[in-house]
Amino acid sequence: MKAVIFDLDGVITDTAEYHFQAWGSLAEALSIPFDREFNEQLKGISRTESLDKILARGNLSNTFSEEGKQDLAVRKNTEYQRLISALTPADVLPGIQALLKELREAKIGIALASASKNAAFILDRLELAHYFDSVVDVTAIRNGKPDPEIFLAGAANLGVRPADCIGIEDAQAGIQAIKSAGMFAVGVGTPSQMQEADIVVATTAELSLSMLEEHFYEFKK
Ligand code: G6P
Ligand code: MG
Repeated sequence: MKAVIFDLDGVITDTAEYHFQAWGSLAEALSIPFDREFNEQLKGISRTESLDKILARGNLSNTFSEEGKQDLAVRKNTEYQRLISALTPADVLPGIQALLKELREAKIGIALASASKNAAFILDRLELAHYFDSVVDVTAIRNGKPDPEIFLAGAANLGVRPADCIGIEDAQAGIQAIKSAGMFAVGVGTPSQMQEADIVVATTAELSLSMLEEHFYEFKK
């Protein structure tokens, strides 16, 4: 095991909740039904793809021009940025900072593979940026999750083989991306949400270097 590649929202901090709230307000304003179950499909995918799915759900796909959709995406992001503006290091999810420290001490590579254009801002607010050897530049990624591209880019940036990497995700699209990249997939969530993951933890508090290594080497046997 040479590297761990992290998703951000819902793994490092609970900004998945803020994405949910910000999309929820927009959906409500457009009278589109929106709930947590539907929101699972939005996790891990880009802002524009999320908006397309929400509009399709409300049969409004053809109601807005490209410019109109752009305005809606800006509206969601403005609300989202309002919600994340108050993030502090206290918002790092349980066990994550300790894991990052252990990985650094063990000289295991650490990369971030987030689809969010707000990722760098969030890592700064959480004071975690210094742990990361690589933050994949999402603007250079052509195919979003479930395509493996962002995880493969993380491995390439670290100079390690995908087979030597663990990916950690809370999104169905993200787990698919990790598995398609040929990596070991750790899901954070419920087994029904994380069906394709190699192991599932209910919360990040369960993560540690020793437990990751144990499962990784067991899987490789
Ligand atoms: C992550 C989140 C998604 C979000 C996407 C884009 O993948 O899981 O919920 O839509 O990033 O985030 P952004 O901050 O660029 O709108
Ligand atoms: Mg996520």
